[in-house]
Amino acid sequence: MEKNWWKESVVYEIYPRSFYDSNKDGIGDLEGIRQKLPYLKELGVDILWLCPIYESPNDDNGYDVSDYQKIMTVFGTMEDFERLLEQAHQMGLKIMMDMVLNHTSDEHVWFVNSRKSRDNPYRDFYIWREGKEGKEPNNWNSLFGGSAWEYDSHTEMYYLHLFSKKQPDLNWENDKVREEIYQMMNWWCSKGIDGIRLDVISDISKKPGLPDKEFAKDVSPYCHGPRVHEFLREMNRKVLSKYELCTVGQTDDVTTVEALQYAGYDRRELDMVFQYELDSFGNDGPYGKWNDEKIPLRILKNIVTRWQTELEGKGWNTLCLESHDSPRAVTRYGDDKRYRCESAKMLATCFYTLQGTPFLFQGQELGATNARFSSLSDYKDVEVGNFYRELVDTGKLTEERFLELVQFRGRDNVRTPMQWDSGKHAGFTEGTPWLKVNPNYREINILDQRKDPDSVYSYYKELLALRKRYDVWIYGKYEVLEEDHPYIFMYTRTLAEEQLLVICNFTDQKVSVLIPKEYRKDFLKNRLLIGNYKVSKDEIGVNSESGSAVEKEFLFRPYEARVYWREMDEITRNEQDDLR
Ligand code: GLC
Ligand code: CA
Repeated sequence: MEKNWWKESVVYEIYPRSFYDSNKDGIGDLEGIRQKLPYLKELGVDILWLCPIYESPNDDNGYDVSDYQKIMTVFGTMEDFERLLEQAHQMGLKIMMDMVLNHTSDEHVWFVNSRKSRDNPYRDFYIWREGKEGKEPNNWNSLFGGSAWEYDSHTEMYYLHLFSKKQPDLNWENDKVREEIYQMMNWWCSKGIDGIRLDVISDISKKPGLPDKEFAKDVSPYCHGPRVHEFLREMNRKVLSKYELCTVGQTDDVTTVEALQYAGYDRRELDMVFQYELDSFGNDGPYGKWNDEKIPLRILKNIVTRWQTELEGKGWNTLCLESHDSPRAVTRYGDDKRYRCESAKMLATCFYTLQGTPFLFQGQELGATNARFSSLSDYKDVEVGNFYRELVDTGKLTEERFLELVQFRGRDNVRTPMQWDSGKHAGFTEGTPWLKVNPNYREINILDQRKDPDSVYSYYKELLALRKRYDVWIYGKYEVLEEDHPYIFMYTRTLAEEQLLVICNFTDQKVSVLIPKEYRKDFLKNRLLIGNYKVSKDEIGVNSESGSAVEKEFLFRPYEARVYWREMDEITRNEQDDLR
C-alpha cells in the first residue's frame, strides 16, 4: 500500500467561534487559535481543520459564505490568517480549510445580483424555478426543516436552498460558477494551505429536471447526482492535483461503493470521505435525525467492519467519532456519567486503532459531554429553530420531548466554548461567550487534565503517540474477531510480521473474554501497549482452573480497552494463514 503523509496524520477539527477568544468579544478568533498552537502540538495532532472562517452573516455559523476571499471580521484579518498559517507550519502543524461550495450566503454578491432580475448575468449562478400551480417547483425539503424552495416576490420565482433559506444552492451546471470556484480555490491553495474539507460536496450535482423525491428520505434527486464525479475530476485537474493537499469530502448517505467512487486510489477525485452510517443511525424514524436511539454494538461492529474491509487496498477510511454536527461520542456511544473517563478512553482506543485517518473534534480529547442545556432558548442553531416550527408548532412533538431530543442530537451541544480551565467562562473568554459554556467545565477542563496522568487527555496523547510509532497501527489490515459477541469489540491489525490485537468492552458490566486460541500465545504478558485500566504484570486471566495461562479468560472491567502487540514468527504467520 502506498504510504502518504495524510494517512499517518491526525486531524483536529477546530470550531473557531468556540475555541479561544483573544480579544474579549466572546467569540473565538484566529489569534486565539494561534495562541493555543502549543497546546495542539503537545496533544500530538498534525492537521488543524478550521471550520469556515470566511466572511459570513452567520445564519449557519460561517457555512453561509458571503465572501470566500475575506476573513470573517470577528475572526480577524487576512494577516491574522497568514500569521497563523506561518506559525503552524513552523511548528510542524498543517492547516485544512473547510470549503462550502454547494451554496453561498444570500448576501454573497453573486446572489445579490442573481436575485435582481431574471436576466441578470448572475441569474444562472443559482437554481431558480417557476412555481408549480402556485406552489413550490417540487417536493424537496430543506435539511434544516421546511421546504427547500424560497419564493422571491421581486422576480416571482423560487430559488433552491437545500439548507437554510439564507444558503441558496449554486448552479454547478453553469461553467462560469465552476471557473469562479476553482479560481478561488487556487487562490487559497497558493497561500500554502495543506488541506481542504469539502462541505456537502455530494450535493453539487442535481438530477436534470429536478424530479420530486419518491419518499421522505429519498436523497437521490440531489445527492451523488449524475455529474458529481465529473465535477470533482475537473476540480482535481484544475486545482487539487497541483498542490500537496489532503482532501476529505463530506458526502451524505454514502455507501462504501460510492465512497470508492469519490475517493478510490485510482479515481483522481478526493483522498477520503466521511462515513455517515454510524452517525445517521436511527435517523429513519418519523422525526428524522431527532431521535435518541442508541446503536447496538452488533450494528456498530458491522458498519465498522464493512468500511474497513471494503476499502482495504482501494481507498482510505476516515475515523470520525465527533464533529461540529454530531453529539459527543461519550454521550452517544459511551456512558457520560459514571464511566465517562473509562468509556471515552475505550472509544478512542477502539476507533483510533482502526485503519484510517483519525479526526478529533475539539474537546473530544477531554471526554467532553453534550451540553444538555435545560432550555431550548439556550440553543442558537438555525436547525433547532426551524425544526421547532416543523415539529412542535405543528403538534407532532411536545416541547419537552423535542428538548430531550435536542439535548441528545442538537449541534450546539458540542459547539460550546472550549473548556480551558475552571475559571470564569472556562477560561474561553473574558467577555460574554456567544454560546453558554457547558456547566461541567469545573470538572472537565484542560488545565486539570494536563496535570493528571490518568486523564482522558493524557490517554489521548499517549494513544496518538503510539499510533505514530507502529507501522502496523497505520497500515495494518483489519480483521474482526468474535463478530457476534454482543458486548465485546475485538479485532486485529496485521502488517508483515507485526500484529495488534484490540479488545474493547462496550458495556458498564464486567465481561469475560476468551481470546481465540491462535492469538493467545504471544499476546499475553508484557505485550500490552495501552489500556484504560491498570493491569498487573502477572494478571493474565481469571479462570485458574486449567492451570495454563493461555487457557484463561480475561475479565474485562466496565468499558475496559486494551491494545496488545506481537511480532509473529514464521510459524505463527503460517498458522494465521491457515485460519484464513
Ligand atoms: C454541512 C456542515 C454543516 C452545515 C451544512 C450546510 O453539513 O457540516 O455544519 O450546516 O453543511 O453548509
Ligand atoms: Ca474574539
